[in-house]
Amino acid sequence: MTLDIQKLREDTPGTKTRIHLNNAGSSLMPLPVYQAVVDHLDLEMQIGGYEAHNRAMAAFERTYDAIAELIKCDRNEIALVENATAGWMMGFHGLNLTKGDRILTAEAEYASNVITYLQAAKNKGIIIDVVPSDEFGQIDIGELENRIDKDVKLISISHIPTNGGLINPASEVGKIAKKYSIPYLLDACQSVGQIPIDVNEIGCDMLSATGRKYMRGPRGTGFLYVHKNFMDKLEPPFLDLHSAVWTSRDSYTMRDDARRFENWEFNIAAIIGLGVATDYLLNIGEQEASQRLCSLAEKARLRLSELPNITVHDLGRKKGGMVTFSHSQIPTPEIKESLANAGINVSTSSTSSTRYDMEKRHLDLIVRASFHYYNSEEELEQFIAEVAKM
Ligand SMILES: Cc1ncc(COP(=O)(O)O)c(C=O)c1O
Repeated sequence: MTLDIQKLREDTPGTKTRIHLNNAGSSLMPLPVYQAVVDHLDLEMQIGGYEAHNRAMAAFERTYDAIAELIKCDRNEIALVENATAGWMMGFHGLNLTKGDRILTAEAEYASNVITYLQAAKNKGIIIDVVPSDEFGQIDIGELENRIDKDVKLISISHIPTNGGLINPASEVGKIAKKYSIPYLLDACQSVGQIPIDVNEIGCDMLSATGRKYMRGPRGTGFLYVHKNFMDKLEPPFLDLHSAVWTSRDSYTMRDDARRFENWEFNIAAIIGLGVATDYLLNIGEQEASQRLCSLAEKARLRLSELPNITVHDLGRKKGGMVTFSHSQIPTPEIKESLANAGINVSTSSTSSTRYDMEKRHLDLIVRASFHYYNSEEELEQFIAEVAKM
């Protein structure tokens, strides 16, 4: 199936006024997503929030099914949360690691995750072990296996880091995790919607993701996947009357599905929007969407690397839709600003978001242009022309 780019762009009003290359920050929502959100808000305004939820129950519940279809799991393995971090935290803290437990992570790990490891090191005495990267810049699988011993209680990595095109070999990591029966938490915040995801093929026990990035959902949405056989190995760090039932004066019973990691109050409109965004992607085809965005990024990488004064910084044997670069003379914030003045949205990535990796490569601030399938070849050319002017 080939993508009808013109139709996809017509569905994306933002493409009329900007060249949006900040999809790794937050994508442009397609019209059906926007419409579903405002329709539900409208209904809430007209008839009341709880009454509107009741009326829209099918659309709300569809979000679980759509996400389950997308990442190939059961709907009972999905918890809907506010963002990727909220989901990730439920998984991480649910493990209840104790003194001397070791976590194996990768060099391209995301700041929020590392801050949490550091907090657990400070408060609980867990040990953080950063597995070095191989010659392609991805986690070294041999080295990961070498470091496994009885104290390793978690393998936790970012699938696609925030600072570049690298795609970590999540399935190879999954094989090692399975071989030694070590819990495996995958931060798939940037990868869901960017590349096809099959949780069984990856072999992760937990996976967290966000709605607003490559899934093109509304802001303030995310989810956590927990494999059904792993569910009872986690103790949800917080429970409320949604995740559990107060059954007698002195007891409660937790839900038996992944919704035990949720809490009562939801932005129903946004969750419905996330379901519509997921269906929109399923309709397009994850494979086709991914091939298109990766090939746009690859073209951009090639074109940028031909420009004088520009260095492209992307790592990885396999690369995704994010392209990072810097200019030998022009500071990164100025590049971002000049592009913004030309109607082109890009972002920047700093040491403090992925410190292990950025320090190793002596990088402090780089430009990040992140492509989606709805970006056009003309937009790519305009972006290159603007950078070339610098
Ligand atoms: C790799 C990675 N993990 C986690 C996050 C956090 O996602 P959220 O802001 O939805 O919690 C980000 C956000 O940029 C990210 O790039």
